[in-house]
This record gives sequence, structure tokens and C-alpha cells, in this order.
Amino acid sequence: MYVMGVESSCDETSVAIVKDGKTVLSNIVLSQIDIHKEYGGVVPEIASREHVKGISLVFDQAIIKAGVKYEDIDLVAVTEGPGLIGSLLIGVAAAKVVAMNYNIPIIGVHHITGHIYANNIEHELQFPCLALVVSGGHTELILMNGHFQFSKIGETADDAVGEAYDKVARVLNLPYPGGPMVDKLAQQGKDIYHFPRPMIDSKDYQFSFSGLKSHVINLHHNLCQRNETFEIADFCASFQEAVTDVLVRKTKAAATEYQVKQIIVAGGVAANKGLRSKINHEITEIPVCFPSMGYCTDNAAMIAVAGFFKYQTLKAADDYTINGNSRLEL
Ligand code: KG4
Ligand code: ZN
Repeated sequence: MYVMGVESSCDETSVAIVKDGKTVLSNIVLSQIDIHKEYGGVVPEIASREHVKGISLVFDQAIIKAGVKYEDIDLVAVTEGPGLIGSLLIGVAAAKVVAMNYNIPIIGVHHITGHIYANNIEHELQFPCLALVVSGGHTELILMNGHFQFSKIGETADDAVGEAYDKVARVLNLPYPGGPMVDKLAQQGKDIYHFPRPMIDSKDYQFSFSGLKSHVINLHHNLCQRNETFEIADFCASFQEAVTDVLVRKTKAAATEYQVKQIIVAGGVAANKGLRSKINHEITEIPVCFPSMGYCTDNAAMIAVAGFFKYQTLKAADDYTINGNSRLEL
């Protein structure tokens, strides 16, 4: 079964062709990072316009690279939300054009289910499975007892982890997106500030990162005002240690309580080297999977894989009234 995935929820225009929910034949990602960098973050209006400019080319490249024809596609899977509404609408409209033109069923995919299913490309999901979802917009622990059965057991009360990374990076004058840069510098610094580990001892699986973010920003501000010298790398290392301590502790506790067979890490922050090494070091009794780097951040292959399993599970597609929904719930 050939599934075409379409992703445009934020600042990446991506189309992929995936065979049988597993084999990635093509995964074209047109990133707008260089354009938004100038503004220190994603500008929604510009993002929409860039999607319009690039999307036809990305569709054609995905088809050519995969060595298939539009007529060969059995299912179109498109991110219907959550995300920037202007960006979502362009991907959904383009996906509908292909589906209607070639009479192919279409299925809407929740963006986070895409991040989760990115793990099924190089591994097989084993149930019960615990997903630690860490992206620019989400920080959640999700329990799965089977394909497309999601139950949220914890989430952030305020900032998502990626958002906290990006905001801390901005204050430290690091380029957008801040996460990869903070991660890189953290490898060169030391945890000398011992920032608070928010909610680390709470007995639930809730998170909160806004207080930690403010703590880092306030300390930086105070040091600057007092003209004290400091190493940015030490800020990054101290922040990263605090964040990853909380993520790993809660993930381990939840995995033990729910007796899962596998832990998967999903979303852009799954690319974080500090998180990868700490989780592998601290959790040795349960297998932990991460997608390879290219499948951590936004891409359409993960949407195609999620679409394949959603279609197999529900045994139904959507109709052509499907539309973008910026606040879509899991
Ligand atoms: O999943 P994603 O591509 O987009 C959303 O769905 O939000 O995640 C983007 C987020 C950004 O906040 C970015 O700074 C963060 O993932 N990120 C990282 C790393 N690579 C990307 N954060 C920490 N360390 C990284 N290596
Ligand atoms: Zn994402």
C-alpha cells in the first residue's frame, strides 16, 4: 500500500511516499528556517506564503524520488492539526486536490500521532508502549495499549519543552530555532547553577517549564546587570540538566507504573543529545527508541506512517470536507 504523507503545520513543507507504513521511498522537506531566523521565530503570515510557493514542487519531487506515479497512491494522509491555521490549510487543500483528482481516499492525521509513529519507521511499536512527546508545542506522556489507542497520562501546565528551549536561547542571543544550539553548547558547559527541577517529586505525570525558564532568564539578566562574566555554555548545560532530569525521572516512573514493554521518544526535542544519553543511561530495563535525527523534527514520512496505521485501525477514511483545525485534540 502506497501512502502519500503531507505536512505543513508550521514552517516545513513536506511530502513523502511510504510503502506499507514502513518503507520510506521519499521524504522531501522544504524548510523555512533560514527565512524565519531573521525574525527570531516563525512568522505565521510568511510561513503560509512560503508553503504556497513551495508545495507543488515538493509534491512533484516526492513522486519523482519515490519512482511512482500519482495513480499508484492508495491513500493520502495529511496533517489536519494542530498548528498554524494558515499553514495547515495549504497542506490540506493541496492534499485534497491530489485525492480528488486521482480518486484516492484521504485521511486526516493529528500532528503528534505523526511524531509518535516516526518511531515505527526504524523500529516496531510494542504495546503497551509509553510515548514521551517533546516538541515545540507539546510535552506529554501518552500511554498506548494498541495502534491508535492514545491515553494522555500527563502534560505540561504551561510551556512545552521546545518552547522553553527556544525562549531561553533567545535571551542568550542564540539563533532560532534555539533548541539545537542550546543542546550543542550544553555539551561544552557544566551544570554550575543547579536550576530547580520543577515538579520532579510530584506523584503525578504533570510538567511545568515556565518557572524554570523564568529562573534562567532572571539569573542571566541579573548577571548582565552586575557586569559579571559567565559562560553561556554553563547556562545551557545547567538548563538542559534540569529539563532532562525531570523528563527522564517522570518517564521512568510512568513506565514502571504502567509496566510498558517499550518507551518511545517523539517530537523535535527527541533530537536532544543530552536527553538521549540520559534516558539510555537511566533506563536500562525497558527498551527505549528514538527516531533517527531526520525523523525527529517535522516531516511528512511520519504523517504517512501514522495515516497508514489510522486507516488500518479505523478501517475508514475521511471525506473531502476535511479541513485544517489549529486546535485539534488527540
Ligand atoms: O516537533 P518539531 O519539529 O515541531 C513541533 O511540532 O513543534 O519541534 C521543534 C522544536 C523546537 O522548539 C526546537 O527548538 C526543538 O524542537 N529542538 C530541540 C532540538 N532539536 C529541535 N530542542 C532541544 N534539543 C535539540 N537538539
Ligand atoms: Zn512537530
